[in-house]
Amino acid sequence: MNAPGRFVTFEGIDGAGKSSHLEALAGWMRARGHEVLVTREPGGTPLAEALRELVLERPMDGLTESLLVFAARRDHLQRAIEPALQRGATVLCDRFTDATFAYQGAGRGFDRQVLACLEGWVQQGRQPDLTLWFDAAPSVAAARRAAVRRPDRFESEDEAFFARVREGYAARAAEALRRVERIDAGGDRAEVWQRVEAAVAARGWW
Ligand code: TYD
Repeated sequence: MNAPGRFVTFEGIDGAGKSSHLEALAGWMRARGHEVLVTREPGGTPLAEALRELVLERPMDGLTESLLVFAARRDHLQRAIEPALQRGATVLCDRFTDATFAYQGAGRGFDRQVLACLEGWVQQGRQPDLTLWFDAAPSVAAARRAAVRRPDRFESEDEAFFARVREGYAARAAEALRRVERIDAGGDRAEVWQRVEAAVAARGWW
């Protein structure tokens, strides 16, 4: 699983604000001369983007949802993420497998052992080098979501769902203390960006 590139994922409940910092971090890295691939999950390839539309809009049970998310992830890894890492690029990915444990596992209550099994098959040991977990209180995230567009199947869930998803992220973070960096996502964008920059600079990789 060794590759010259670095794999960075962005996580958090809907409305935590991770996506704008992903764009800012891509600019920060490019300004330092690094090749950056910005991508997202579910998605990132034509097949995975088609699966994303289904997962976000069609009603389905937890197993179907998990299988589709991991099918999308397999294609994304093989066609986009691994080739980029092999050529030395930094991959910035908006959500990855921590989201599956948080949303399908903790949020929907789907069996985490099955998720761990799928994770092993699909990723063959590949894990992010760094995960920035934007941690915001569900009430703060709900207020930010209310300001944007039409909600998808996940964004329409209630605050109790997002409280469970947040707990799911906290549990994954506790299992991977070196990989997952918790970013306090409360406060204005400039404050949160300072935390992101400090966390990334501390790794000494860029
Ligand atoms: P999101 O990053 O919120 O996209 P956007 O900012 O365009 O709305 O991701 C889409 C949704 O997919 C999000 O609500 C969480 C959900 N999701 C899962 O349920 N499981 C997963 O494994 C992934 C990657 C995402």
